[in-house]
Amino acid sequence: MALRPTIRFASLDDQPQSGTVLVLAGEGATLSDAAKASDPSGVLTRAAEIAEFEGKLASTVDVIAPEGASVDRLVAIGTGKADKLDEIAWSRIGGVAMAVARRSTEIAVIADVPEHAVSAVDVANLAQGVLLRSYTFDKYKTKKSDDAENKPADKAATITVHCADPAAAEEAFKAAQAVADGVMLARDLVNEPANMLGPIEFADKIKALGELGVDVEILTETEMTKLGMGALLGVAQGSSRPPRLAIMRWNGGAEGEQPVAFIGKGVVFDSGGISIKPAGGMEDMKGDMGGAAAVTGLMHALAARKAKANVIGIVGLVENMLDGNAQRPGDIVTSMSGQTIEVLNTDAEGRLVLCDALWYAKETYKPRFMVNLATLTGAIMVALGQHHAGLFSNNDELSERLTAAGLVTAEKLWRMPLGPEYDKLIDSKNADMKNIGGRFGGAITAAQFLQRFVGDTPWAHLDIAGTAMGSPATDISQSWASGFGVRLLDRLVRDNYEA
Ligand code: BES
Ligand code: MN
Ligand code: ZN
Repeated sequence: MALRPTIRFASLDDQPQSGTVLVLAGEGATLSDAAKASDPSGVLTRAAEIAEFEGKLASTVDVIAPEGASVDRLVAIGTGKADKLDEIAWSRIGGVAMAVARRSTEIAVIADVPEHAVSAVDVANLAQGVLLRSYTFDKYKTKKSDDAENKPADKAATITVHCADPAAAEEAFKAAQAVADGVMLARDLVNEPANMLGPIEFADKIKALGELGVDVEILTETEMTKLGMGALLGVAQGSSRPPRLAIMRWNGGAEGEQPVAFIGKGVVFDSGGISIKPAGGMEDMKGDMGGAAAVTGLMHALAARKAKANVIGIVGLVENMLDGNAQRPGDIVTSMSGQTIEVLNTDAEGRLVLCDALWYAKETYKPRFMVNLATLTGAIMVALGQHHAGLFSNNDELSERLTAAGLVTAEKLWRMPLGPEYDKLIDSKNADMKNIGGRFGGAITAAQFLQRFVGDTPWAHLDIAGTAMGSPATDISQSWASGFGVRLLDRLVRDNYEA
């Protein structure tokens, strides 16, 4: 990760005297009095007129301060219509601020707009956007690049956000920062190449959550064998690196209160196994642990902001490889549930990992609900592209809550169907089920497979194959790995399950 910017909060009365100064401009490029005070010569106002800057959300106008001014640069960032300034808008404004000030080390943001009383939470969301945009994955770059966005910084920036109530902003920022840290942890895990991050290394990163008060338990191969996790172990048997099942418990809620559970697919590399994938683009399969990364990032966020809820995170960590000992097409494995599975395609491995993790979660914790996340199918990308993750669920209330959380965080979900017509497509001649359906509806038959392991527990499956990696760049993410799911699920918990 790049050098993290330091974020501070100051009063609006306290005018910045040096560095880059960013002001916010409402629709029509209107400036607040505080913003005007930052542009005594009027050079920014003039530039805005000449550039026909209209104050549209996330648009900018940028000038070098004139001779004699104490500051170096002046930038106006548009905030759009005052009544549309929601959480996403504020984080986007922060992201744009970070981007335009990328080469500066001393940055001041005047968080004041006409016709909108900027709250402490607005300021915290802006600061969260700054952090998320500042993320780059450059730990393996030894040479400097001219590409501003990817340039390894040699000096961390200090960003001072001037606002109406700095103390309240500082307080609100604690939670926003906890969540940003969770998102960046998830991005780091997904970006990390598989030679550096196998199941054991991933489990070690999870153990580090112990410092935040998360109770961590790591199951080894021997323990999983005792539990009868034949489906997960079948996937792992072709790799020289042994699997792990990591369990994270955050007990921030009332004692004895039934927990909620999040389960992630953690295939550290998916070669496809004996049903090997084509070479082109196979490197992307280092990100096939995006579900596990989101669960880990979420647990970090919840613990760091001391969420008042009891939450379980479980991730199945395996590598899907080819080997003399690898699982073969046609093999029949017995899952922990006792149900048998005919493995017709070793590349449909995610569901084999998740079915044992879901069953274990359900049996061990009797959760209020289970939400699993997985980069499960290419078919979901065909169906939804990269702007919605697929949502499959046996419970309307849970679906609605997830969908609502997706809209406020811009981590959008689209509900897909489940039903007996699809379920029967995975019946097998030789076992209780097979691990692939037919040619059609591949994301749905994968979800049907998972549903056979959740019983009556309210459950949702998020297929994040299109959203967790290779993600389109946004104002708050320029990274190949987006960290999708962390902000969404933090919001789900915050809005519905905290005391
Ligand atoms: N990890 C892949 C799905 C995937 C593909 C994620 C592309 C992200 C980008 C998964 O394990 C897989 O290989 N799925 C197969 C299933 C098929 C064999 C039924 C697929 O989607 O082709
Ligand atoms: Mn696969
Ligand atoms: Zn996979």
